[in-house]
Amino acid sequence: MRPSFFHHLHPPTIPAAQAQWRYTLGAGGIAVMLVLVLLVTGALEMFFYIPTPDQAGPSIQTIAFLVPFGGLVRNLHYWAAQALIVVAAVHLLRVVFTAAYVPPRRFNYLLGLALLVLSLLLDFTGYALRWDEGVRWALVAGTNLLKTVPWMGGGLYALAVGGPEPGGATLIRFYAWHVFGLVLPLVILSAWHLFRVRRDGGIAVPPPTARATAERISRNELVRREALAALIAGVALLALALWRAAPLAPPITIGSVGIAEARAPWFLLWVQQLLRWGDPFWAGVFVPLALTVGLALIPYLLPGPPRSQLGRWFPPGGRLAQIITGAIALLMIGLTVLALYP
Ligand code: HEM
Repeated sequence: MRPSFFHHLHPPTIPAAQAQWRYTLGAGGIAVMLVLVLLVTGALEMFFYIPTPDQAGPSIQTIAFLVPFGGLVRNLHYWAAQALIVVAAVHLLRVVFTAAYVPPRRFNYLLGLALLVLSLLLDFTGYALRWDEGVRWALVAGTNLLKTVPWMGGGLYALAVGGPEPGGATLIRFYAWHVFGLVLPLVILSAWHLFRVRRDGGIAVPPPTARATAERISRNELVRREALAALIAGVALLALALWRAAPLAPPITIGSVGIAEARAPWFLLWVQQLLRWGDPFWAGVFVPLALTVGLALIPYLLPGPPRSQLGRWFPPGGRLAQIITGAIALLMIGLTVLALYP
């Protein structure tokens, strides 16, 4: 077969151990595919979406019901965004549970974590673009959390919201962040992350002497497996987009009702649950920031196992990192369930 552009992105051959589904779960590759789907569908939505409080809702209705295939494009964009968060989180757990964060991959771990944070911010800003009743919590409670930050709270709020309360200036700011300010770093860091995977010698595996087999696979085979993963994920995404439409509620009227009944976006439900118990700054700002910094420090504070233990799940030398990260994941899932079924 004549090598294509995609073939040239890979080395001519790689150890077979680096391309096993049961090891990588294909999660990094599927995340790349989701980012590509988001870029294309998001660009198409930009032709019709109008970022003003009066027009946001009607323009989304136009996309969903009048533009040919607009509903499908919007649903694909929505579901790909939700899936990206789940898939990137699974990828993070895979990386920690296989201790793939040890040098030389420490820096790439940080790039990956930055990508997860960017994906969350993109989901948050994109969600607010609906400007409907469904985004009340994010818009009112979420932005009010900024005010609780000591010394710079007022400035941060003014920067994000652009006025004394959410309004037209907020929507245009969220739009600019969503389509440009966050997308640009996402694209640059994604390319850097992939470049570093190759630069760091591909996926972490034991040294040749400690490997069960010396078998290598060609890049044709690797591209075939990646295409298969993209196909399966693509069909699942399409099925989801055809089955369930992205949500849309009546336009929001700021200040009319409180936020007691409003629900946070699903990926922030755990924060909303913490806020029911604790002080807004500690529960809503400090804990999420401390968890992110804690995850970022794992490769630096917990050195991880020797190279001979790499390339397998739950190596004994990475126990502490596995326990801490597993506990954080379980805590977030538990708090989310509590928020859903109070
Ligand atoms: C948008 C989000 C992300 C994308 C598109 C992405 C993409 C990828 C891809 C394609 C790979 C190679 C294949 C694989 O391991 O499955 C990879 C590897 C890697 N990623 Fe990510 N990733 C993302 C998020 C993350 C996160 C959240 C972390 C951890 C905090 C991370 C850390 C790593 C590391 C350390 C490797 C090397 C793994 C190894 O050598 O075994 N990535 N990433």
